[in-house]
Formats: sequence, structure tokens, C-alpha cells
Amino acid sequence: MTMRILSGIQPSGRLHIGNYLGAIRQHIELQAGGNECFYFIANYHALTSIRDAAELEKITLHVAAAYLALGLDPEKTAFFAQSDVPQVTELAWILNCVCPVSLMEKATSYKDKIARGLPASMGLLDYPVLQAADIVIYDANLVPVGADQKQHVEMTRDLAGKFNRIFAAEVLVLPEPYIVAEVAVVPGIDGQKMSKSYDNTIEIFQSPEATKKRCMQIVTDSTPLAAPKQPDRCNVYSLLKLLTGEGEAESIADKYRAGGYGYGHAKKRLAELINERFGEARDRYGKLEKDPDYVRDVLAEGGRRARQVAEATMARVRSACGVVTNR
Ligand code: ADP
Ligand code: TRP
Repeated sequence: MTMRILSGIQPSGRLHIGNYLGAIRQHIELQAGGNECFYFIANYHALTSIRDAAELEKITLHVAAAYLALGLDPEKTAFFAQSDVPQVTELAWILNCVCPVSLMEKATSYKDKIARGLPASMGLLDYPVLQAADIVIYDANLVPVGADQKQHVEMTRDLAGKFNRIFAAEVLVLPEPYIVAEVAVVPGIDGQKMSKSYDNTIEIFQSPEATKKRCMQIVTDSTPLAAPKQPDRCNVYSLLKLLTGEGEAESIADKYRAGGYGYGHAKKRLAELINERFGEARDRYGKLEKDPDYVRDVLAEGGRRARQVAEATMARVRSACGVVTNR
């Protein structure tokens, strides 16, 4: 059976290796195997936190160029901007009408964002409903995301099920989240979840020197160089393990336990691994950054494909709930 895969990424900051390992890598890999992929840049979602037009535009193009540089194939995948599919905000309204306010008040991401000082706008409260519309409008079966998005996918199932029950029609497909356990939460340089909101990220697209500098800032304990160390308690090792092969991870763990191997050695190796992993993508990114017209053409074509599917779903939705259109 062909799987319809859908995911979105907010253009709310420069992409980091947590985004890559937790989400983007899976997005790129899932393009193989006969899946039908729809990936988009969630610029309406980003409006809940960015209020600077030039900044939002700049990051939207950054994320688009980054995906293309990291291996997104626009021939295989519909890659587009959320705002190029106006049907999605129409569906969000309809889902709002079946969504209990209490369900939104339970969202942990809403509570976290308020606690961090984001303005408690209607958009922020409603964020999961727009995300649900994003998902069900393409009849998506599978939604590859990091663990922090699991609740939003569960809410999507909840809302799609409610819609189908209330209007007594099997109109919306219930999606499953797809979460890769070992990269569910990639730690940042301070050991908390890597996130642009915590200023603890290692960016994908920066120079090898800047990468090394950032790796050297990773917080470790003060065990002296000669003493044995515990790899599983070390932020540097947690990141190394995600980027090396099995064999090297084991041999570094042995060096930690044996003593005489310092955190500085591990940090240098981590920087090398990151620079090797992203070297070619960085070159491609450099070229794409200078060719925004090409990037916009890709998004325009992806938007055309996405609108076709979205419009077909909306015809079913409008008819199920009796919304008359006279176009
Ligand atoms: P950020 O936390 O930096 O604001 P986003 O919330 O925009 O990042 O996340 C974009 C995607 O990357 C989501 O699918 C999210 O689950 C994933 N992601 C973000 N940070 C991490 C992390 N530290 N570990 C694993 N996945 C992550
Ligand atoms: N909320 C997601 C994030 O912060 C972005 C997103 C918006 C999304 N719509 C989506 C992810 C639909 C998956 C499916 O990462």
C-alpha cells in the first residue's frame, strides 16, 4: 500500500542538528520506497512567534534551501509553503467548530510557550487545530516528527474522529505519528533538549570553525583528564553516538571508561563528524542561497500539487458538513 507521508517544519529559526536528527533526516529517507511525500514550511504557524516580516520571509527561504540542500527531491516530493494552500485555513475553521476549548488548553506545547513568555494569542491556543488541518487535508497516513509533536498528532486523530462522528461520514483519515525512538530528544550544548528557544543549538549551516567553537562549549562535568568517565552521563557522548557508526561509538565509550581520554578529545571528534556529515550539504546550501528564484519556483510547483489534493478533500468536507459554496 502506498503511504501518504506528511510533515511540516516551522520557519522560526536557523535549523540545527536536533531538527535534522529528530525530523529532517527521516523526512528525506521516507522519500524512498514508493511513499508519496508532502512536506511544507509552516509559515502560518511561525506567525504565532515571529512578528517581523523580513525575518519570517528570510527564515522561510532558509528552511526551503536547507531541505533542498539536505536531499529533498522536488520531483518525488511535493514541497511547498503552507500559505500557498489557503484551503488549510478554511479547514482549520471547520475543525475549530468541532474542537472543545478544553482540548486545546491541555496542549503541553501551549503551556510551555506561555511559560517562556510568548503572547497567549488565539493563534497560539489554536496552533494544534491548524496543524490537524495541515495533516488531514492531504489524507496523510504517517506523520514523521520529533517526540515533542506526538501530542499534536494525537489531537489530530481526536479531531478527525470527532468530525467523522459528528457529521456521520468517513471523510477524514486518522494519521499515525512516526517517531524514531533513539533520536526522540537530541540534547543541546547545555544538556536540555536542543531547541532554538534555549539558545543551545548546533546549527547545521555554519562554518567548520563555528561548529568546532560551538562543540567546545558543550557543558561537561569536571572529571580530570586522567580519570575514568561515564559515557552515558555525558552530553558530548550522547551527540557523538547519534553521528558515529556503532563501532566507533563503542570504542569511544571504552576510551571514556579507561581514563586518559578528555572531554576535549570527544568534542573535537564531534565537530569533525558534524563537518563531515554536512560538508556537501553546506556547499549545496551556499549555491541555493544565491538562487532564491529557483527555490521559489520549487515551492510554487509543490504548492500547485498540494492545492489539488487539498481542494479534493475540502469538497468532501464541505459537502459532509453542509457548507454551500457557489464558485
Ligand atoms: P525547536 O525546538 O528548535 O523550536 P521545532 O519545534 O521547530 O524546533 O522543531 C522542528 C522539528 O524538529 C520537529 O519535528 C521537532 O520534533 C524536531 N526537533 C526539534 N528539536 C529536536 C530535538 N532536540 N530532538 C529531536 N527532535 C527535535
Ligand atoms: N508543529 C510542528 C513543529 O513545531 C510544525 C508543524 C506544523 C507540523 N504543521 C504540521 C508538523 C503538520 C507535522 C505535521 O515542528
